[in-house]
Amino acid sequence: MQVDTIQIKFITPAETYVVRHPVLRVGKPVESCKLEGDEDPTTFHLGAYMDGQLVGVVSMLIQEYSGQSHQKSYQLRGMAVLASKQGRGIGAQLIAAAEEEVTNRGGDFIWMNARLKAVNFYTSLGYTIDSPLFEIEKIGPHYVMVKELS
Ligand SMILES: CC(C)(COP(=O)(O)OP(=O)(O)OC[C@H]1O[C@@H](n2cnc3c(N)ncnc32)[C@H](O)[C@@H]1OP(=O)(O)O)[C@@H](O)C(=O)NCCC(=O)NCCS
Repeated sequence: MQVDTIQIKFITPAETYVVRHPVLRVGKPVESCKLEGDEDPTTFHLGAYMDGQLVGVVSMLIQEYSGQSHQKSYQLRGMAVLASKQGRGIGAQLIAAAEEEVTNRGGDFIWMNARLKAVNFYTSLGYTIDSPLFEIEKIGPHYVMVKELS
């Protein structure tokens, strides 16, 4: 797999829309990119830059996982890489950076609602399926996937 040189930086919620919109909310109004918790002071957003262009984003929100007691659980949201830049290792580098930052902030567990199409991507990064397949309205089939950080 080709792995490009990218820079990963903290970005604002609004900056994520540049990638969220064409990848995750195709044909929908740009306001549909806004996710609950985006503006929480404890939420962080990472952007992957290639030659100065924002090409990938991920957001991490403190959110308990179905009543389980971990020290601090984060929900991964809005994971997206521009279509023309997918399959080059950018998503994997973003997840690695997000995991490192979660650990730095005292987090020990990450979970997300993973689109069926993205399950193999998360599996390759150590996440496991922890729910039956379920439908998110207007988006499609998902599994909950989880990872304990050590
Ligand atoms: C899913 C997504 C974020 C992955 O980012 P990416 O930069 O394309 O992924 P990478 O190139 O870093 O791939 C990392 C690993 O996952 C695998 N992978 C990536 N996308 C995959 C897919 N759709 N199906 C199967 N495997 C996949 C790669 O082969 C690679 O494995 P390897 O290291 O063993 O070769 C990106 O393809 C995307 O934005 N997809 C559309 C939006 C989406 O589904 N987002 C997730 C919402 S839950």
